[in-house]
Amino acid sequence: MKKFAVFGNPIAHSVSPTIHQMFAKNCGETISYEKVLVPLDDFEQALSSFFSDPMAMGCNVTVPFKQQAFELASDNSSAARAAQAVNTLFKDGSGDIHGYNTDGMGLVRDLIAHGTELKDKRILLIGAGGAARGAIMPLIDESPASIAVFNRTRSKAQEMVDTLSHDRLAVIDKHNLNDFAADIVINSTSASLSNTLPDGVSPQLFTHCELAYDMAYGKSRTVFMGYAQQHGARKQLDGLGMLVEQAAAAFTIWTDKSPDTAPVIQFLRDNV
Ligand code: ATR
Repeated sequence: MKKFAVFGNPIAHSVSPTIHQMFAKNCGETISYEKVLVPLDDFEQALSSFFSDPMAMGCNVTVPFKQQAFELASDNSSAARAAQAVNTLFKDGSGDIHGYNTDGMGLVRDLIAHGTELKDKRILLIGAGGAARGAIMPLIDESPASIAVFNRTRSKAQEMVDTLSHDRLAVIDKHNLNDFAADIVINSTSASLSNTLPDGVSPQLFTHCELAYDMAYGKSRTVFMGYAQQHGARKQLDGLGMLVEQAAAAFTIWTDKSPDTAPVIQFLRDNV
């Protein structure tokens, strides 16, 4: 049986095993997929022990090991290089371990699945952490008019924009935020995890907004989604679809098969 896993710390909350088992069933595969709680200083050892099993084909990597996975892979996809982080590892026939980052692709696929056109749109990306870094290049590939990055700590946004260096990408300051007239506002900050609105968000951000997207998700709508709706965003989405779509992209890397994502999103919506 092909063997897969997700490595993280913490990991108990992960729904990746459920997602990948549903994909496998959908695609006629039989797999094992386990959660591995990795001690903070033991990722390299945990990974090499996992991949020493000939049946181990690949794994997902989550917080806080994504940067380390990027460094340990023998090579990395362009999205992983842009993000400097890996959420998917794949062992090829000769035992080499390749790194990928499917988070941004997951976001773009979910946006497209909801009928959101990104071409020529003005996108405001809030946050400049790992989640933002993973999203930017796949967003740019969809040819938006511009992506403005706003972060509570400006220097972090500047550093990210300088590293990725693209003419459609720029940092936006707090005092210019209200004039940007974003079509799409994406919250990549971890503020939703503590049920708060990202610092600096104001009602005017949503005046022209057709879609407010929160990469976080939960049992109920996030604070950001409620605020966006209240201040004029015509549509609000959480990140559950992104989670399932990034997993589907990983599953395809491992198996060459494309699972049906809609029933999995619905299942999680109803059960998690
Ligand atoms: P992740 O990998 O989830 O992106 P991260 O790399 O720790 O996590 O980054 C967290 C992001 O959320 C950062 O952009 C952080 O802003 P700072 O750089 O100023 O720390 C942002 N963030 C977290 N809590 C926030 C809050 N309450 N308001 C605004 N931004 C917040």
